[in-house]
Amino acid sequence: MKIQLLIGVILVIRFSTQDQSLLCSHCNCTNTKENTVDVNCTDQFITYNVLYDKSTWVDEKDSPYPLGRVVLKLSDLPDLMDPFPFSNLTYLDLSKNYIRRINDSCFAQFQNMHTLILSDNEIDNLKPDVFKGLRMDGNNYPLRSLKVLKLDNNRLHTLNDDLFEHLEQVLEVLDLSYNPFKVLDLQTTIAIGSIIYLKELDLSYTGIKSIPDSFLHTPKHLKLLDLSGNSFTSVPQGLTDVHTLETLIFNANPIVNLTQENGFKNISTLKTLYFCNMFDLECIGARSISSLEQLSEIHICNNIKLSHIDPAAFSRVEAETEIWPPIKKLNLINNQLTSIDFHLLIHWNNLKELDLRYNPWTCECENQWMVETLMPIYLQINEDIAKQIKCEAPIEMVGLTFYDEYNGTKTMRCLDLYNNRPEQDGTILIGVLIGLLIGIPLVLLIIFAYQRNWFGVCENGPAAYSRKFYRRTRSDEL
Ligand SMILES: *[C@@H]1O[C@H](CO)[C@@H](O)[C@H](O)[C@H]1NC(C)=O
Ligand SMILES: *[C@@H]1O[C@H](CO)[C@@H](O)[C@H](O)[C@H]1NC(C)=O
Ligand SMILES: *[C@@H]1O[C@H](CO)[C@@H](O)[C@H](O)[C@H]1NC(C)=O
Ligand SMILES: *[C@@H]1O[C@H](CO)[C@@H](O)[C@H](O)[C@H]1NC(C)=O
Ligand SMILES: *[C@@H]1O[C@H](CO)[C@@H](O)[C@H](O)[C@H]1NC(C)=O
Ligand SMILES: *[C@@H]1O[C@H](CO)[C@@H](O)[C@H](O)[C@H]1NC(C)=O
Ligand SMILES: *[C@@H]1O[C@H](CO)[C@@H](O)[C@H](O)[C@H]1NC(C)=O
Repeated sequence: MKIQLLIGVILVIRFSTQDQSLLCSHCNCTNTKENTVDVNCTDQFITYNVLYDKSTWVDEKDSPYPLGRVVLKLSDLPDLMDPFPFSNLTYLDLSKNYIRRINDSCFAQFQNMHTLILSDNEIDNLKPDVFKGLRMDGNNYPLRSLKVLKLDNNRLHTLNDDLFEHLEQVLEVLDLSYNPFKVLDLQTTIAIGSIIYLKELDLSYTGIKSIPDSFLHTPKHLKLLDLSGNSFTSVPQGLTDVHTLETLIFNANPIVNLTQENGFKNISTLKTLYFCNMFDLECIGARSISSLEQLSEIHICNNIKLSHIDPAAFSRVEAETEIWPPIKKLNLINNQLTSIDFHLLIHWNNLKELDLRYNPWTCECENQWMVETLMPIYLQINEDIAKQIKCEAPIEMVGLTFYDEYNGTKTMRCLDLYNNRPEQDGTILIGVLIGLLIGIPLVLLIIFAYQRNWFGVCENGPAAYSRKFYRRTRSDEL
């Protein structure tokens, strides 16, 4: 009797520890507010046997320890050749392993999985049935919960045109960045185009230089597109096909001069634009960003050669009136700008955010409006940043802030018609006067000294000799 009870107790204890995932004996498991267990196996070696053991994914009915987020990062995982057992997990991170191939239906039993991260592996080819789920009426074996799929930093050059056939009704976020695509071929275009509810697409650092014509016509719900770090030398024309695009990230592309021709065409829904880290960008020309009618947030930053933004870069002319986009956030941090024009925006006081720091602003007439008109507005928007805007030229103003000038300690100087600085004329005049006052007596003194032969010691030429000779005779005569 007693022994049986003891065995029973031991069994209960054993079972209750067994209820937790097998991974919890190696990895860090934490209980969440949702009564699930998050497993963090970062940097823990996981063997294939453990990976496919049923008790790793324990989610028996009424399990007190259902899995939530499972991180198997840097776990030395090889190719995934077998389907995983059932689990109710919602988040699976398999990044930084050695996965090259994934066999069909691998994740089919993870029907609650919301996010799948396969970043930083060696995947070069994916077959459509990799993402095959379970049978559901009217649907093609969907992985019915998968909204976020990250395939960045792999070795994909192309995608099978049916790759997302099991995800086309569900997937919303797709990250393909840092894969060596180079071109978006027809199959890849079809694959991405088939994802009906795609909202965010990351194609940054994929080596592409153009976008196929119909590429953005199909995803009708696309809100965010990242094309950074590619080889675009102009803004792709295909962007005008988008239906609902709100945010475009176009950083780090090799554009030199943005003009009306290679600039932004009508993307009527675009609200936010990132145009940063463009190492070649020198000039943003007139009407180059002006077709973005709804633009309310623009980031032009860390462009180390950008020295000019045309006053008409943002505005457009319709029926002989000039119209500006409703910009609320303007970020021009860390470029090479020396001045900006008052007409760049129409209502500076509509701004909610403004950052002009780390540009070599000149404190001369052309920027006088920044002190008089902008500074009071800027102080309202963000007093802290407003006080940090500094002069880098002319030399006598370096280190002063625009706020100092606004505050009345120093006023800006203007160039006259001939690009001279009239205020320096006074200094020059005084300099000349001092020069004359010191110079004239000095010259007189030298002439006098010469006549008196104060420098005689240094003269050893024959003439000097003879002069001495004559002088001596003369003194003899006296
Ligand atoms: C496990 O994770 C929790 C929360 O993330 C942390 O507080 C704890 O220190 C970790 N334990 C170990 C052993 O790493
Ligand atoms: C998992 O653990 C690693 C180190 O063991 C830690 O750096 C990381 O932040 C953890 N991740 C989560 C989601 O807790
Ligand atoms: C999995 O989660 C769903 C709800 O998210 C729940 O209805 C179901 O019972 C769970 N299955 C198991 C085996 O825990
Ligand atoms: C891949 O899965 C199929 C069944 O889906 C199986 O027949 C085949 O053996 C698996 N391949 C490998 C290499 O395990
Ligand atoms: C860019 O514009 C500058 C002056 O505005 C011009 O000197 C330069 O040649 C242009 N570069 C290219 C590549 O168009
Ligand atoms: C931009 O496109 C929208 C809708 O496609 C249209 O209503 C608008 O007139 C266009 N604007 C310009 C400046 O072409
Ligand atoms: C200038 O700023 C200082 C504080 O930075 C303030 O005490 C002073 O009153 C200001 N002067 C004017 C003229 O606004």
